[in-house]
Amino acid sequence: MCGIVGYIGVEQAAPILLDGLGKLEYRGYDSAGMSVFDGEKIQMVKAKGRLKVLEELTHGGKTLKGTVGIGHTRWATHGEPSDKNSHPHFNEKGTISVVHNGIIENYIPLKKKLEAKGYSFTSDTDTEVIAHLLDYYDRGNPLETITKVMHRMEGSYALGILFSHYPEEIFAVRKDSPLIVGENSKGCFIASDVPAVLKYTRQVYFMNNEEVVRLGRDYMHFYTVDEEELTKEAVTIHWDADAAEKGGYEHFMLKEMYEQPKAIKDTLGPRIKEDEIVIEELHMSREEIKAIKRLHMVACGSAYHAGMTAKYIFEGMARMPVNVDLASEFRYRNPILEKGDLVIVISQSGETADTLAALREAKERGIVTLGIVNVVGSSIAREADKVMYTWAGPEISVATTKAYSAQLMALYLLAAYFAHERGSLQEDQIASLIQELKMLPDQVEVLLANKEKIQKFANRYIGAKDIFFMGRGIDYAISMEGSLKLKEISYIHSEAYAAGELKHGTISLVEEGTLVAAVLTQENLYKKMFSNIVEVKTRGAFVLAVTNEENKDIEKVADYVLYIPKTNPYLTNSLAIIPLQLFGYYVALGKGCDVDKPRNLAKSVTVE
Ligand code: AGP
Ligand code: GLU
Repeated sequence: MCGIVGYIGVEQAAPILLDGLGKLEYRGYDSAGMSVFDGEKIQMVKAKGRLKVLEELTHGGKTLKGTVGIGHTRWATHGEPSDKNSHPHFNEKGTISVVHNGIIENYIPLKKKLEAKGYSFTSDTDTEVIAHLLDYYDRGNPLETITKVMHRMEGSYALGILFSHYPEEIFAVRKDSPLIVGENSKGCFIASDVPAVLKYTRQVYFMNNEEVVRLGRDYMHFYTVDEEELTKEAVTIHWDADAAEKGGYEHFMLKEMYEQPKAIKDTLGPRIKEDEIVIEELHMSREEIKAIKRLHMVACGSAYHAGMTAKYIFEGMARMPVNVDLASEFRYRNPILEKGDLVIVISQSGETADTLAALREAKERGIVTLGIVNVVGSSIAREADKVMYTWAGPEISVATTKAYSAQLMALYLLAAYFAHERGSLQEDQIASLIQELKMLPDQVEVLLANKEKIQKFANRYIGAKDIFFMGRGIDYAISMEGSLKLKEISYIHSEAYAAGELKHGTISLVEEGTLVAAVLTQENLYKKMFSNIVEVKTRGAFVLAVTNEENKDIEKVADYVLYIPKTNPYLTNSLAIIPLQLFGYYVALGKGCDVDKPRNLAKSVTVE
């Protein structure tokens, strides 16, 4: 998540920090700030809003004197976007300054312990805990202080740290959130991504997990979390600036597809404690959860498809009645909402006009609302009674991938939590579901590795006119998402159908060579799907099947098969979507379409 830049050298630091942060703007952010050591103390400027605000406050960095500094662009996860929640954060004495990318999953217990020891907090962020922990452990040796704090923190963090009693050095740490180190004849740099330093050097060091670096004006030393010194090899960057912004990927969409394992991990992580699902932000008692009569999932586009999946999951796991509505329909159909209903609006951007209007409609009728949102502090996040964030990080590509996958995680967790509270899932079932959830990131990783094979298959369809998707149960929901991914970026007409419905009309469109993607991951529906495949095959269709790896007999009827690893039947959408995303991406790429910015579309549809 977002951006860190640090510099120590012979030049004034602040202009370099601003320049570097500007190269990281593509990562999306809501606020920014800098700390610079001016020879006596650490000066700090930070504010909500764009980097422009910081540039104006510091006259392009000129008013912040000093040659040692750290800067940050924040993508809020804990504590809404505001001046006080912006980074850098400090200890009370103002002698330690820290910037952070990531999520400290155990910040609440750490914060309670620090408050009990007399520490007071000025922000709502998880990051501020780091500043006070550094203070708590500081006995004058920064490396020792830092490694002690690392042993206390859980979660993901890239850190830049200044100690005013160590003004000739910058310290940085990496765990799960990326961090690189660079150097040239005028100084040394840290940054969360290559673009920030490319103007100054093409020799970078990629930090590995739980490594610490101490930077001087003309030296750098790397250490392990056990304070053992490391030697690292520099990597020469050959990318151009534009490619670097995408981390070396050709498109943001591809980069974000590959960020799905982390998005899944970050969304699950803070909500799974040993063998228990914990959704602190819900603030609902067991009685309140038991009293829910009906759920209404309301959203648009891919978020609506996530809501479709949710229907099968909540009704299956928690035995709760679920309506699923397109937000643009919900607000005009005078929906039947009753006391005891819960309206769940799902939105990556948190600004979609139709979804926001649906939320307001529900609130006007006195119905409790929950927002499942990716952008912290967005309109939907602020206006919903309750909010459950997906922690996918900023999503740039118009076609959603990692945010959609994170939405599924949030919905799985919520369904299982409700099921447990309402007694329809027992501890042992929750425990095994948690194990299967924890396996998803690695399983997604394995599926992403199929990209060359899928690209080869996709290239056969760049001239296609119609491509159909079909499935039953949650496989119907994922077919909807697979079809949308394809058509919104390749401009090829595509429809998704409940497989049992195809014979009631659309099958008339199937002719020799028409591609039909059949998703069949549900054991109880497998035989039915098998017959649906035969139905379309007899009309000349070419069938791509996406199914569980144990279903080898599918090769008797399907022309091309993509297998997914074994998981809980409720979780298969999270795996089946990966080959479908890659298929859509490579068809669009083969057609030369603008994958990240498809024609006529916007990342957030803030108009009706
Ligand atoms: C999905 O790839 C599209 N970008 C679009 O359908 C999107 O899901 C829809 O506009 C909803 O956006 P939201 O999640 O930001 O509300
Ligand atoms: N979790 C931290 C916060 O919300 C850091 C977010 C980021 O990566 O920008 O402030």
